[in-house]
Amino acid sequence: MNTTEKETAGRIENEKEAGAARQRENILAPSILAADFNQLGEEIDAVTSAGAKYLHIDVMDGMFVPSISFGMPVISSIRKGRDCFFDVHLMIERPERYIDEFAACGADGITVHAEATRHLHRAVQTIKAKGMKAAVALNPSTPLSALDYVLEDLDMVLIMTVNPGFGGQKYIPQMTEKIRALRKKVQEMELPLKIEVDGGINDATIHTVLEAGADVIVAGSGVFKGDRAENVARLLTVMNGYTW
Ligand code: DX5
Ligand code: ZN
Repeated sequence: MNTTEKETAGRIENEKEAGAARQRENILAPSILAADFNQLGEEIDAVTSAGAKYLHIDVMDGMFVPSISFGMPVISSIRKGRDCFFDVHLMIERPERYIDEFAACGADGITVHAEATRHLHRAVQTIKAKGMKAAVALNPSTPLSALDYVLEDLDMVLIMTVNPGFGGQKYIPQMTEKIRALRKKVQEMELPLKIEVDGGINDATIHTVLEAGADVIVAGSGVFKGDRAENVARLLTVMNGYTW
């Protein structure tokens, strides 16, 4: 190869890399909070075999949020024989107390709320030190500036699109602008992190969040009401239509 040919080959390689970096993979994360716990295993298998890559697992302590859901024994039990990504959303006070235990019971990624800990940076580092993906969640009224100084360390940010604590609530429209602003920031900073949205996402609202830049879509009642496989397939079809 002469110099010009080498330069051209190098440019094509760089463009390929840039293209790969821009690739958008939209992931569906069904929230098992809305599943029928009497047949939880079957519920999970129905949505993962239909194409959902993440399983969104909502842990609530009755303190950070009003309700109580489930904890480690349930997670260890559903982990057996399953290899989908366990996306554990901790809605608990001082989540740093339990990071080791959630790692031990099979979490692949842990999300802590910025509002639930005085030591957000330390909590993020602890999650990563355990080899898991680290995410921070923000309640609807918490500004994006709460992520300053940790954003570069994160694998994902979770924008709550309802107030956490219950499934089946209505999407808060003001969150669209928040998602959009975060996507803009992430693109400007060229960060690889994912933006997850959680709460009130269904056939009517999914376009809005995808268009604003979310790429991990949590859906509880949107998946676990009616035909699970059909719901997953329909949502994935919409999601696959959104590229960068
Ligand atoms: C709410 C939970 C959500 C909930 C979403 O606090 O974090 O994950 O399961 O449920 P839907 O999709 O029904 O709003
Ligand atoms: Zn959640």
